[in-house]
Order: sequence, then C-alpha cells, then structure tokens
Amino acid sequence: MKNNFIEEIILTHEEIADICKKFGEEITEEYQDKRPILVGLLKGSVPFMSELMKYIKCDMEIDFIQASSYSGVKSTGAVMVLKDMITPVKDRHILLVEDIVDTGLTLREVMNLFQDRGAASIEIITLLNKPDGRTVNTVVPKYIGKTIPNKFVVGFGLDYNELYRNLDYVGVLKEAVYKK
Ligand code: IMP
Repeated sequence: MKNNFIEEIILTHEEIADICKKFGEEITEEYQDKRPILVGLLKGSVPFMSELMKYIKCDMEIDFIQASSYSGVKSTGAVMVLKDMITPVKDRHILLVEDIVDTGLTLREVMNLFQDRGAASIEIITLLNKPDGRTVNTVVPKYIGKTIPNKFVVGFGLDYNELYRNLDYVGVLKEAVYKK
C-alpha cells in the first residue's frame, strides 16, 4: 500500500524479493569457490543486503563501510569514509552492495580504496540504477535490479533526511515533501 507522501511505486516488496532471488542464484554460481565478501554501503544497503544474502548458497562473508557524498536530495561531490570495514580485503573477492547508483562518485572512491588495498576482484551489485545522473563512467554495476529515471526515490533503505528507510517498497517521493 502506497503512503500519501509517495507519488508512484517503483518496486514492490515482491519485485524486490524476485530480484534478490535471481541475483542470489547468479552469485552462488559465479562465486562458488571464491568465498566473496559482500560489503554493504551504509546505511541504505542494509535491507537489500539482508534480503539478498538469504539466496546466496555458497560460503560468503559480510562487512560494511560508510561513505557519504549526500546532503538532503543533492550529491555534494566530496566523498568521505565515515566508517571503515573490519575484514582485510587483500586478495579477496569483493561484491559492493548498494541501494542506488546515481553520480557514481561514492562507488568510484570506494572502489579505488579497495583496489589500493589489493582486492582480487571488485564488482557492484545495486538494487537501483539512475544512469541519467552518472558523472563517472568507470562505475559500471555488474548486477542491476532496476534502471530508473532521474527521480528522487525512498524506501527499502533509501532515505530523505534519514526518513523512509523502513518502507518495504521503493517509491518516488512527492516533491512537496522536500520543496517547502
Ligand atoms: P552517488 O555517489 O551519486 O552514486 O550516490 C549514491 C548514494 O546517494 C546512494 O547510496 C544513496 O545513499 C544516495 N542517493 C542517490 N540517489 C538517491 C535517491 O533517489 N534517493 C535516496 N538516496 C539517493
């Protein structure tokens, strides 16, 4: 059921579950003997990560990193690592788990960091992709749940000023909510 601050539903909970199941099966096959580390970008990836990992049936680990370039509905451009991960990444296969890729700035910085630390491989898995917002062409997600237009969305981890992460679906936020 759509809340009154939502203009349009982008992904229902059932659609999200189907996406996670499909990705889970693909990852299970591709990473069978690689013991990948799923690295969630805090905080938005948390619901996606927990849904996704249920469907991965090979050995794997999880960890989290927090990097931020956002304030309100706009990217600020500068990326800061606010919380680093604990697991050493040298020679490990990394799957970066994101809620949405927009400009790509956050992931570019995080990928550079992991490359410097000697990761064996780095791939991106994202629930949503906003290619119209992209300013970095080196960030190419391997797994994309859904490609969407350049609209501001919330729910299933995605927030507007820390609100709405708890919705079990993803929807476009009504402009009236942030254009006051
Ligand atoms: P990027 O560095 O511009 O690719 O930004 C990625 C991050 O920006 C995501 O992990 C989100 O936290 C945030 N973000 C980008 N677009 C949206 C949106 O439509 N709604 C909520 N957060 C967004």
